[in-house]
Amino acid sequence: MPDTGTDLIKRYLEDAIAAEKSFETQLNGFANDGDDNEAKAVFSKHAGETRSQSERLTARLEALGGSTSTIKSFLAHVFGLSPKTAQLGHEEQERTTQNLIMAFAIENAECAMYEALATTALAAGDEITARLATEIQGEEKKTADEIWQLISPSARYAFAHLTELPLQRSV
Ligand SMILES: [Fe+2]
Repeated sequence: MPDTGTDLIKRYLEDAIAAEKSFETQLNGFANDGDDNEAKAVFSKHAGETRSQSERLTARLEALGGSTSTIKSFLAHVFGLSPKTAQLGHEEQERTTQNLIMAFAIENAECAMYEALATTALAAGDEITARLATEIQGEEKKTADEIWQLISPSARYAFAHLTELPLQRSV
């Protein structure tokens, strides 16, 4: 028997919940790493937002008759890859830049994930899930923009701190 539209939506909601949960853990790690208070504040704020996103997704999944008890998602695995190994040998000032790069990549991957969820929900005539996906996607885009703005300042700061050379020019 083929899947119903609701079967697909429930699966994608499970993927999204697993992804958000793993990202919340990662964001909390970023929020306690490095010496850039502005970046840490953005990470910490989005960790809270991420929690609210997984709660809203869980509520929707339960309304469709699903449950989060058996979630095992490949996306969680993708998003959950720890940057720690890659960061060995890097200074504290550089780690903030690396955390920003990781967070930017994850936010954009999430935008793509919610695009697929919204499209699938609309295809199945589920306006409520589509609206939720688009709403959360807007939050991810906003955070991706905030993170983007911090990348150059963070790289400049690491350069100045680690080389003690004057900056030649900026982007
Ligand atoms: Fe998120």
